[in-house]
Amino acid sequence: MRFQDRGVLVTGGGSGIGQQVCYAAAEDGARVAVADLDLERAEATAAEIRRRKGEAHAFQIDVAAPLSVTDCVSAAATTLGRLDVLVNSAGVREIVSVLDLSFEEWNRVLTINLTGTFLVSQAFARHLVAAEKAGQIVNLASTLGLMAAPNRAAYTASKHGVVGLTKQMALELGAKGIRVNAVAPGVVRTPLTERYFQDPEYSQMIRDIHAVGRWAEPREIANAILFLADEANSFITGTVMPIDGGWTSGKRM
Ligand SMILES: NC(=O)c1ccc[n+]([C@@H]2O[C@H](COP(=O)([O-])OP(=O)(O)OC[C@H]3O[C@@H](n4cnc5c(N)ncnc54)[C@H](O)[C@@H]3O)[C@@H](O)[C@H]2O)c1
Repeated sequence: MRFQDRGVLVTGGGSGIGQQVCYAAAEDGARVAVADLDLERAEATAAEIRRRKGEAHAFQIDVAAPLSVTDCVSAAATTLGRLDVLVNSAGVREIVSVLDLSFEEWNRVLTINLTGTFLVSQAFARHLVAAEKAGQIVNLASTLGLMAAPNRAAYTASKHGVVGLTKQMALELGAKGIRVNAVAPGVVRTPLTERYFQDPEYSQMIRDIHAVGRWAEPREIANAILFLADEANSFITGTVMPIDGGWTSGKRM
């Protein structure tokens, strides 16, 4: 098993992509720290892993609050006995035109998606450096970290920021044995996007933007995340891997 006895910390682990990362890592032998703002959802994910005979513990974290972040990283390290992998999956998004986007909403999205990714990654990297250990970070960027789409200015800016942060941290931490990569998913069916699927026209538009003619299931993104975290792929760092069913490969004429 690829992650046998490895300590894997997942923010946003109570839902969607993060939850599937927790399940997949546990199936691959990891000890999992499921961290989420919503402790009940984190506990439910951890309980499901234990029901399947895996090892998991739930933690509350607000990725936008520095003290909550350092408390969670140190509690996860103590409880799991070791930390090897961090997956930054906590995230939010607005749907509002750039003209109507408020200062508060801009700040909320930037603070959770970009500052949150920075804070948790920094705390995790400091822990590894102090322990003189190698490790891996995988960030959740998005196709909107590579291009834009209507009514998502804060989200698009935050995910472009995550792409930059991924490259920066890979550059600064590579010599310390810490690899930092990101995935850039297309549309994935999760609680974040569920409202898209209530409208048949919008659902069809989502099918049409992906070359494969469908949206992704969260497990397909989790599998790519664990590929990047796997030590078998030890020369991959600073990359942003589109997992987008061909969305960014080109525009239909
Ligand atoms: N679903 C998609 O189509 C899609 C596409 C590209 C990228 N992404 C990215 O993937 C990540 C996961 O998205 P998802 O679709 O699984 O969303 P989701 O809403 O299902 O899960 C996000 C989780 O993050 C948690 N969270 C929110 N704010 C938090 C905070 N301040 N601190 C800690 N946890 C917090 C939520 O409680 C929730 O459990 C996000 O970063 C998202 O931007 C999603």
